[in-house]
Amino acid sequence: MTPTPASSSALVDIQLGDRSYPIVIGAGLIDRPSTWEGLPRAASALIVTNDVVGPLYLERLQRALQPHYARVLHIVLPDGEAYKTWETLNRIFDVLLGQACDRKTVLFALGGGVMGDMTGFAAACYMRGVPFVQVPTTLLAQVDSSVGGKTAVNHPMGKNMIGAFYQPVRVVCDLDTLQTLPSRELSAGLAEVIKYGPIHDMAFLDWIEANLDLLLARDASALAWAVRRSCEIKAEVVGQDERESGLRAILNFGHTFGHAIEAGLGFGAWLHGEAVGCGMLMAARLSERLGYVDAAFVGRLTSLARRAGLPTVGPALGAQSYLEHMRVDKKAQDGDIRFVLIQRPGQAVVQGAPDALVAEVIEQSCRS
Ligand code: NAD
Ligand code: GLY
Repeated sequence: MTPTPASSSALVDIQLGDRSYPIVIGAGLIDRPSTWEGLPRAASALIVTNDVVGPLYLERLQRALQPHYARVLHIVLPDGEAYKTWETLNRIFDVLLGQACDRKTVLFALGGGVMGDMTGFAAACYMRGVPFVQVPTTLLAQVDSSVGGKTAVNHPMGKNMIGAFYQPVRVVCDLDTLQTLPSRELSAGLAEVIKYGPIHDMAFLDWIEANLDLLLARDASALAWAVRRSCEIKAEVVGQDERESGLRAILNFGHTFGHAIEAGLGFGAWLHGEAVGCGMLMAARLSERLGYVDAAFVGRLTSLARRAGLPTVGPALGAQSYLEHMRVDKKAQDGDIRFVLIQRPGQAVVQGAPDALVAEVIEQSCRS
């Protein structure tokens, strides 16, 4: 498996009929004029970003888009998961309507998964749908959230509960933006990279183990391959099951336990990727208890997560709290929790498990 040279860019296609689109991955993409050619024509573009990413990359994106649109508007929203709300979403509509943007206006999501999810949902709703482009600037967003068309805002009663499946027209992963990412955010993104190994591609897991130090050092070639292979796997899965009627659920490995950690601690205490990373270890342990994988496999994932800078011990919220939060997971059916488990290394299965066994796994996973 050869990493992509840092100087070149790679294309991964999401095949969804007339909603197919490319994911462009490379260094220096924001400033490269060809990156922005061939997008839907429109009089106006609106860049949606936040007050952390805006100061870093907004001006450059504005400059790059100016040859293509008569007006390049922008809105800078407050940073953070706490602002992924209906109220913030409305501020995007305020600008679109206040500036008399028509139904051809192209939206650009500049930032991490919060910006991407919220801008995508705004694009799905405004005038019943306008095109949007994802410009993800976190590792997590480049390997996962910008790809596949899940868009949403949070509701006080649940994360990502109000949203739509709505595909972007292009995803532009400029790897240079990862150089300004805080280390904790890089580690959180690595959780979603690691995820793809156990569920689909153990050779990729081998590669991550061998190259983790390079990834943590933000080596351009290593990051390029991690983003590309992750997007290839996500594209393959989403291409077969866009709306998660079956297979796509495997991409939620670690998310059932992870959402319980996020909700139980209060959103924002742990990063999404940290909760997913720890949740993967819990799901792996549950897989072991069901006889699917051995202890060595769980140990392997645990040491990789630890090396990646991820928490490996769950917060001691009590098994009942975990179970209650997991029952409102979107995968739950009639209150029965469904877990993404590893049936054998490289292959996932979605199924239920007895509460008592799940509780044992939680207690075991929360002991230091
Ligand atoms: P985030 O968007 O909050 O970004 C993390 C932090 O990094 C923020 O403070 C952000 O402003 C900052 N940041 C972003 N890019 C930066 C850069 N280049 N340099 C410096 N700082 C930068 O979080 P995230 O981890 O990117 O995304 C998490 C969100 O994504 C959650 O809301 C989650 O629900 C969602 N998500 C969605 C999907 C999906 O399929 N749609 C998948 C996974 C996660
Ligand atoms: N992150 C899970 C999915 O896109 O389905």
